[in-house]
Amino acid sequence: MTLFEWSDDLLVGVLEIDDQHQRLVELINILHDTVINPDQDSDKRIMKEIIEELFDYTEAHFSIEQYLMGLHAYPESSAHMAEHGKFIDNIRQFERDFKENGTSVREDTLAFLKDWLYNHIMKVDKAFGQYLNSKGVY
Ligand SMILES: [Fe+2]
Ligand SMILES: [Fe+2]
Repeated sequence: MTLFEWSDDLLVGVLEIDDQHQRLVELINILHDTVINPDQDSDKRIMKEIIEELFDYTEAHFSIEQYLMGLHAYPESSAHMAEHGKFIDNIRQFERDFKENGTSVREDTLAFLKDWLYNHIMKVDKAFGQYLNSKGVY
């Protein structure tokens, strides 16, 4: 079962951002598949790689959004960036728990990642997408 079903309702109308959101959804689903179908030997190593990729990709994605905010003088940038910052703190904590404390990735962690991303895209990124569209960026 797919945890996070992509829907075009999530599109914010800016190609680069939408492509990255689709990749983030895909990575969350790959991590979810690994969590629900553990393979004893490769489990931990694969999970570590997926977590690193998901979190690095998230940071890179936020940087690109924030770069576009600066470039187009987005008036709501500080509130938007504060949301990104809080989420980064959360995912770095998961990463530390996983790598240093050996905590396994739990379904509620994945539900948190999914819910956060869904809500962030639907509200905050969509508002930003509309602003970019109004500046001729698609
Ligand atoms: Fe964002
Ligand atoms: Fe985003």
